[in-house]
Amino acid sequence: MDLKPGLVVGNIVDKKTFYITTPIYYVNDIPHIGHSYTTIAADALARYKRMRDYDVFFLTGTDEHGQKIEKAAQLNNENPIELADRMVERFKNLWQVLDISNDDFIRTTESRHVKQVQDAFVKMYEKGDIYLGEYEGWYCTPCESFWTSAQLSLDNCPECGRSVEKIKEKNYFFRLSKYQDLLIEYFEKYPDFVKPESRRNELHRRIVDGIDDISVSRAAVEWGVHVPMDNKHTIYVWVDALFNYITALGLEDSEKRKKYWPANIHIIGKEILWFHGVIWPAMLMSLGIETPYQIFAHGWWTLEGKKISKSLGNAIDPVEITEAYGVDTYRYFLLREVPFGLDGNFSYEAMVNRINCDLGNDLGNLLHRTLTMIEKYCEGIVPEHEGSLSAEGNELIERSKKLNNEVDYAMGNLQFSKALESIWDYIGLVNKYVEISKPWILAKESSTRNKLSEVLYNLVESIRIISLFILPFLPNVAAEMH
Ligand code: MSP
Repeated sequence: MDLKPGLVVGNIVDKKTFYITTPIYYVNDIPHIGHSYTTIAADALARYKRMRDYDVFFLTGTDEHGQKIEKAAQLNNENPIELADRMVERFKNLWQVLDISNDDFIRTTESRHVKQVQDAFVKMYEKGDIYLGEYEGWYCTPCESFWTSAQLSLDNCPECGRSVEKIKEKNYFFRLSKYQDLLIEYFEKYPDFVKPESRRNELHRRIVDGIDDISVSRAAVEWGVHVPMDNKHTIYVWVDALFNYITALGLEDSEKRKKYWPANIHIIGKEILWFHGVIWPAMLMSLGIETPYQIFAHGWWTLEGKKISKSLGNAIDPVEITEAYGVDTYRYFLLREVPFGLDGNFSYEAMVNRINCDLGNDLGNLLHRTLTMIEKYCEGIVPEHEGSLSAEGNELIERSKKLNNEVDYAMGNLQFSKALESIWDYIGLVNKYVEISKPWILAKESSTRNKLSEVLYNLVESIRIISLFILPFLPNVAAEMH
């Protein structure tokens, strides 16, 4: 198969529509900091793109099938769908609390999804890319992953370190190996397909080293999408899940599908890059569907130095954190503290420091002193200013233009912390402008009233600019500033 021109990895900056997704979250787990991180990052980018006049489609959802959910439901003495119905509300509620602006929410148990996954499976089968074989190896239920003996780490799952179970069953396989050359060609032609670069290189190396066909059905798992031509099997939960990115848009000829596919970016955690960067594009190639422009794999958060997990009992509910510290501060902290792509450690101390310094001292102080001065010197009415600006006033304007470019570049590369750093440099400059201009002295003499008006006008204008730039990160603070 030839690479179609539509497969080109576009520059995500110059497309008018923008389709962005998060992974769909397993419903056996309660949502914690890690889940909220991916969704907040995607939300900040979606809001930014909307501000830049893109027609954005932002999708999130839940992954509800598979052995893991089946087992969790069994332990709870309930049907898997009852568990899913209950847990999906936790996710939906969290996204509401965190001001997530998703345009759709897909559940893999919805019929709009199931039907299309089955159709895709049949198409790949008819093409000869899916065949019946025998699988013998290991399975990690928490990761829903197949492993060979050689891949195990001290007899455990190399991904999560938990125990694996031996399985031997007749399975359907996908001819992933057939796509090795095409994937290599694709990775080399479009170096931005997977980001960050270090992860892209690692994945590229794995493909070059050789890829085997993969098992794509389970005979032993009942809770899943049934294989249409062989009802005893359910489709492997990862195949089922990956298709959500397309099924949410509707059938091939639907308006949404035509408008938004291929996705501009799938934001995911680093542990699921293999599925997104290799299996997903190969299946799309098999179906003759364009591949997404970019997959960005971010790092993992630990909590006070420890891995976050339900079994360790440290998976704090982000709702509790936001009740104590505020929604915007939590969003700000996650995106400012660690460069997107790297691992980070969540600690209350670090969050409180950020709140006090960046939000209190820098931004809070600027707002407070400007409002107080306008109240005190101008009876609460922002003064008009006409005529030329002073050198410092001009510097503010010039700096805001530079800020615009810096933020746009950073956001185009998902460098959220850099974008925020630039905005805070600007806030620092505006605070300095107050110190230099000394409005409290200008207010003393009638001869300097005009100058005072200029300074206060410039301050309000700078605050307006700041409120625009911070909107994707701190939507509530930005709205209050308007
Ligand atoms: N259901 C699959 C994804 C299918 S996408 C087609 C899945 N779900 S998950 O609920 O286990 O995790 C989803 C995502 O949550 C991870 O990819 C990652 O983005 C995020 N995180 C979960 N724990 C995390 C941390 N401790 N730190 C940062 N993000 C992590 O995998």
